[in-house]
Amino acid sequence: MFNIRRMEPKDLIDVQRCNQYNLPENYPMVFWTYSVITWPEASFLAEDLGGKIVGYVLASVEQAEENDHLWVGHINSLAVLRPYRRLGLAKRLMTLSKESMMDTYPLQYIQLHVRISNRAALSLYRDALGYTVHSVDYRYYADGEDAFSMRLWINGNPDILRHRRQRWKIFGSFHRFMVRKHEQLAYCFRGTGSAS
Ligand code: ACO
Repeated sequence: MFNIRRMEPKDLIDVQRCNQYNLPENYPMVFWTYSVITWPEASFLAEDLGGKIVGYVLASVEQAEENDHLWVGHINSLAVLRPYRRLGLAKRLMTLSKESMMDTYPLQYIQLHVRISNRAALSLYRDALGYTVHSVDYRYYADGEDAFSMRLWINGNPDILRHRRQRWKIFGSFHRFMVRKHEQLAYCFRGTGSAS
C-alpha cells in the first residue's frame, strides 16, 4: 500500500527525480526548496512501503489579485510514476493538498496549467476533481504548445455570482410586482368583507 504525507526538504532530490521521469517541465532545486519551506502545508507525496516516492503534488499559495482578503492556490506540478497510475494516487494527492491549503488560507480558487494534449491530466482535473477551463494560454510551454488555465472555485466564481445576482434582480422585480398585486387584491376583499 501507499503512505501519503507532506513533502519535506529531505525528500526533494527524490521528488525532483520523479518529476524529471514524468514531465518535460522541470523546476530548479531552489524553486522546490523555496516552495516546500514557504508553504509546507501545500505539497504532498506518495511513497510505497519501501519509502520509494511514486508520486507528488507541488503547490504554492499567493494573495488573490481582485480580493486581497482571499488567496489563490497554485498546483505547480503533479506526477505519478507510470506503474502506479490509475490507482487513485493523483486524486488523493490533489484532494489532500486542496484540503490542507483550505485549512490554512481562505482560498478563492486553486489554479493550474495543463497542456491541451494531456488527456489523462485533463480528465483528472475536469471529470474527477471539478476544475473548469478558465482560459487558453497560447504557446505557454517552451515547445510552443498551448495550455489550458484551469480553476477550481472555492469561494464563489464571480461570473456565476454575477449571473445569479442578475437572475435575482429579474425574479425580484417580478416577486415585488406579485406582492403588490396580492396586497391590492387582499385590500379589495377586506374592503368587500367589511362592507357586508
Ligand atoms: N485517461 C483518462 N482518464 C484518466 C487517466 C487516463 N490515462 N488518468 C487519470 N484519469 C482520470 C480518471 O477519471 C481517473 O478516475 P478512474 O481511474 O476512476 O477512471 C481519475 O483521473 C483519477 O485518476 P488517478 O488514478 O488519481 O490518476 P493517476 O494517479 O494515474 O495520475 C496523472 C494522473 C498525474 C495525470 C498521471 O497520468 C501522470 O503522472 N501523468 C504524467 C505527468 C502529468 O501529465 N502531470 C500533470 C501535468 S499538469 C500539472 O502538473 C499542473
